[in-house]
Amino acid sequence: MSVQKEVKRVTTHVLAEMKLRGEKISMLTSYDYSMAKLVDQAGIDIILVGDSASNVMAGNETTLPITLDQMIYHGKSVVKGVTRALVVVDMPFGTYQGNSLEAINSAIRIMKITHADAVKLEGGKEVIESVERIVQAGIPVMGHLGLMPQSIHKYGTYSVRAQEEVEAEKLVSDAHLLEQAGCFAIVLEKIPAKLGQRVAQELKIPVIGIGAGGGVDGQVLVIHDMLGLTQEFSPRFLRRYLNLSSLITGAVENYVADVKSRDFPNEKEQYD
Ligand code: KIV
Repeated sequence: MSVQKEVKRVTTHVLAEMKLRGEKISMLTSYDYSMAKLVDQAGIDIILVGDSASNVMAGNETTLPITLDQMIYHGKSVVKGVTRALVVVDMPFGTYQGNSLEAINSAIRIMKITHADAVKLEGGKEVIESVERIVQAGIPVMGHLGLMPQSIHKYGTYSVRAQEEVEAEKLVSDAHLLEQAGCFAIVLEKIPAKLGQRVAQELKIPVIGIGAGGGVDGQVLVIHDMLGLTQEFSPRFLRRYLNLSSLITGAVENYVADVKSRDFPNEKEQYD
């Protein structure tokens, strides 16, 4: 029996045990109560309230505009729908990079109001003091390296990261620093598969990949992408499990036609 199936509630300790046993960790994003409930019931290990909400929920081009209050709103909604998965809330751009006091205040606010289990933030060496301070306050932290969407204006593109040796070595060193600072797991986004495998082998904490190959300890995808709700986004790493956009469009077209033709509502769908 897998560790994940035995447990009533996924904790950071359960995840550590899964890595030790070689059991892969599954993680998906969710941003609202109804979706989180379905994802949790389907047996996911971790639900990430990602700042990708900025793109897929609010329609922004980047993750930068989403605010702490908006992330807290999404986090609170998700937590209410979840009984089993570990819920991680992304710390949005501008709420932890400035200084570690700002970081701890933002993390405490997220935890107090959403009742989530952990926070996630992007960066390595530059944010280590913030990570240490949040961890010291008893809040589990998930790191995020490789493609870091909050730094899009620094890099200019969403292309594969750490293909050159210097960047790859910095990523490995940052991963070790995050582990030493007390992170319970890290996400690696869009990096060469060999590098993902190396980091997963070198670290004791779970390494969850998105476009980081199969050699890491788990996988994460944005739920709108894997369900086919987003149409234009199709990177190589994405596997679509459903074409929800065409199912929804089809259903709405049928509804419109039924209303126009007076087929809806019929006698059974109205009150005497
Ligand atoms: O915000 C997000 O959805 C993420 C995932 C891509 C890991 O950080």
